[in-house]
Amino acid sequence: MVRLSDSIKINSLELKNRILMAPMCMGYADEKGYVTERLTKHFVERAEGIGIILTGHAYIEPAGKFNKGQMGIYSDEHIDGLKKLVESVHDKNTPIGIQISHAGGVASSSIMGQTPVAPSAINSGKETPRELEESQIERLVEKFGQAADRALTAGFDLIEIHGAHGFLLNQFVSPLTNKRRDKYGGSLENRIRFPLEVVARVREVVGKSFPLEYRLGSDDLTPGGVTIEDSKVFAKELVRMGVDALNISGGLCGGQPSSLAGEGFFIPQAEAIKKAVKAIVIGGGGIITPEFADKVIKEKRVDMVFVGRALLKDARWAAKAINKLKGK
Ligand SMILES: Cc1cc2nc3c(=O)[nH]c(=O)nc-3n(C[C@H](O)[C@H](O)[C@H](O)COP(=O)(O)O)c2cc1C
Repeated sequence: MVRLSDSIKINSLELKNRILMAPMCMGYADEKGYVTERLTKHFVERAEGIGIILTGHAYIEPAGKFNKGQMGIYSDEHIDGLKKLVESVHDKNTPIGIQISHAGGVASSSIMGQTPVAPSAINSGKETPRELEESQIERLVEKFGQAADRALTAGFDLIEIHGAHGFLLNQFVSPLTNKRRDKYGGSLENRIRFPLEVVARVREVVGKSFPLEYRLGSDDLTPGGVTIEDSKVFAKELVRMGVDALNISGGLCGGQPSSLAGEGFFIPQAEAIKKAVKAIVIGGGGIITPEFADKVIKEKRVDMVFVGRALLKDARWAAKAINKLKGK
């Protein structure tokens, strides 16, 4: 029987157990997105005993910045700080991945200093964004590739592409935020085109054996939005394009929708995706007890769990969880 404490391999990377620190942006970077000592300390404190640490979303270009204190990976100047972060977590014998992201239409000009860009000029955040031209979409694919290259240089063990929570890639997939009439809009096949181009470019940059993960906004939980059936089709394509692991969360509804409650509130969606693909599927939402995390692994509903707020509350949650399960 597979347990939470069992090792697992994501492509070439072997993890000591099946707990992933959910990507959480704490606002600890400086105003240009550089890593600070406070940010590094936050992750180092949580590194012992966990399968893998994941950083919060790092913006791939200035216009993709969502909140103050967010980490950036939009220039080569970011690499030094990122490298120090990686080395500090490695000192705890734990791998670390980075989530790369673009906020698209939910970014705000008051934070990043320009009109936000999106698949369509639909106000889904604080202001009406500018619709991206095809040539700009192509440039963004390149920028995701460049960010991945920097992550590789900094020594990260894994890259997660942020495709959830109503951010840019998710905006393309959802019919509620994408009303385009070109090859990037309309059918599901067209709406998933840009995220798949990003995945293909990142895979090309990092090479075949590097662990690549996608945070999938699996369900908008809104009439007319992305459904789990759409996401099963999309997930298969993501895997075909070279994604090794899928980290399942919400779409436009965000990561903590008020309509869902209890431990493992996104486990049903993760379980549905797991049945549709041959890849590592990570699920969670509201996990607070090691017993629950162990149970969903034992029952093979997911391959790994993500744990967020429980790790904010108790930095040693993972080490304690593995210890508590010993002998059970
Ligand atoms: C402070 C905070 C920051 C977050 N930042 C991110 C982020 O940068 N990227 C992301 O994909 N999810 C982010 N999330 C969502 C978490 O990854 C996770 O999906 C959510 O908190 C539910 O899991 P939990 O109940 O274990 O916390 C954030 C959540 C919190 C609480």
